[in-house]
Amino acid sequence: MSTQTTRPLAARLTVGWHQAARPASLGEHHARYGPRPEAGRDLAGAVAAAGLTGRGGAGFPTGVKMRAVAARRGPAVVVVNGMESEPASEKDQALLARAPHLVLDGAVLAAHAVGAGTVHVCLDRARDQQITALMRAVGERRRARVDPVPVMVHGLPRHYVSSEETSLVRWLNGGEARPVTAPPRPSDRGVGRHPTLVDNVETLAHVALVARYGPAWFRSAGSSDAPGTFLVTAAGAVAGPGVYEIEGGTLVGDVLEMSGAVDDGFVLLGGYGGTWHPMREAAQLPLTAAGLRAAGASPGAGLVLALAPSSCGLAETTRILGYLAREGAQQCGPCRFGLPAIADDFAQLAAGRPEDGVLDRLHRRLGVIPGRGACRHPDGAVRLATSALNAFASDVRAHAAGHPCAAFRRGRTAAGLPIPRPRAEGQWR
Ligand SMILES: Cc1cc2nc3c(=O)[nH]c(=O)nc-3n(C[C@H](O)[C@H](O)[C@H](O)COP(=O)(O)O)c2cc1C
Ligand code: SF4
Repeated sequence: MSTQTTRPLAARLTVGWHQAARPASLGEHHARYGPRPEAGRDLAGAVAAAGLTGRGGAGFPTGVKMRAVAARRGPAVVVVNGMESEPASEKDQALLARAPHLVLDGAVLAAHAVGAGTVHVCLDRARDQQITALMRAVGERRRARVDPVPVMVHGLPRHYVSSEETSLVRWLNGGEARPVTAPPRPSDRGVGRHPTLVDNVETLAHVALVARYGPAWFRSAGSSDAPGTFLVTAAGAVAGPGVYEIEGGTLVGDVLEMSGAVDDGFVLLGGYGGTWHPMREAAQLPLTAAGLRAAGASPGAGLVLALAPSSCGLAETTRILGYLAREGAQQCGPCRFGLPAIADDFAQLAAGRPEDGVLDRLHRRLGVIPGRGACRHPDGAVRLATSALNAFASDVRAHAAGHPCAAFRRGRTAAGLPIPRPRAEGQWR
């Protein structure tokens, strides 16, 4: 890839990361960012003025959500979403591994702003070290008596959909970590039937910075439609996979350049429920919700995943679809029947041994699934599948005619994108 790099890397959340191989202590955190400011009830207004949007994938305005929770009657609850179930994403793990106190500051400040009496931190139970580090950070704060509200750390079962916000609320209420139909949204009725603010860990780290330095400072980085900085994960066929902090408005091509994309083939934007694009086209687009909209794409939680040179895009999509089909919570029709059927159609196509009419059937299925699940999980799988049919259209024709590409015949199907191993059934609690 060669594009002109227009924006340097930013360093707000990532200050000191290169020196630190371990989580910053409370003392180091205060030396880096200054002490936590007094909690103010006008924080929701400052966050709205900053234009901060959620970093967990949907990009909803954080100030609007905070105001909605604050406006409800009775005590509220804050839930910190640190689950990071997207298999290729590393940004939340990297943030928690280096700056846990920034996230906890944001959670406690948000709790005060929305009138919450408890903060719950939800983590993937399989990440032992992360849970230990967060409990240590919470203990440090308890001993220093810096937090006016109790902070509890929980380990939840690992599934792709267990990190969806209604799954977290259901689990915290004593149930299984599977999504439930909304409304009511957690902001109306969540943990213990209280209004509940669920925010991603990166979002809360930005809240902590807005509280310290104000909305104008926040907007001094980024673009008018994507203010501030964003953590992104670059993975797949790149020489420097990992987490980068970029300013809003940075081009996809800049991220590919800085992470050393090794080819100018195809890129998957937004994660496993995202969309494939030729790199040359995507490179010109800002990695923002507004910048990608016209191309039918979204940055999701900031994922830029490069397809390995000479890999088969159809085979790679088939692997991901198989994973997404396995990872549904099997509660709704689209998850139980629709996703396995799409994954099976793709497997036939990728292998170059399709049944008659597989493409027509696939298009029909892709048309009826969106919007039918209780959560957006099936919509993401359909988005991925549809974009693969478009991006790899000539391969699709060849495979449908029984002629899989050379990459597939050589067995070169893996882009290095991680597919977690299937887990034992039934572990949702
Ligand atoms: C299938 C699915 C998986 C999700 N996984 C995550 C996740 O791992 N981490 C996260 O913060 N948000 C995840 N979300 C989004 C959450 O439901 C919720 O919107 C988010 O935590 C809100 O925080 P934010 O406004 O700060 O982004 C997921 C959503 C869906 C539909
Ligand atoms: S669509 Fe799938 S993941 Fe979402 S609630 Fe229904 S069964 Fe669960």
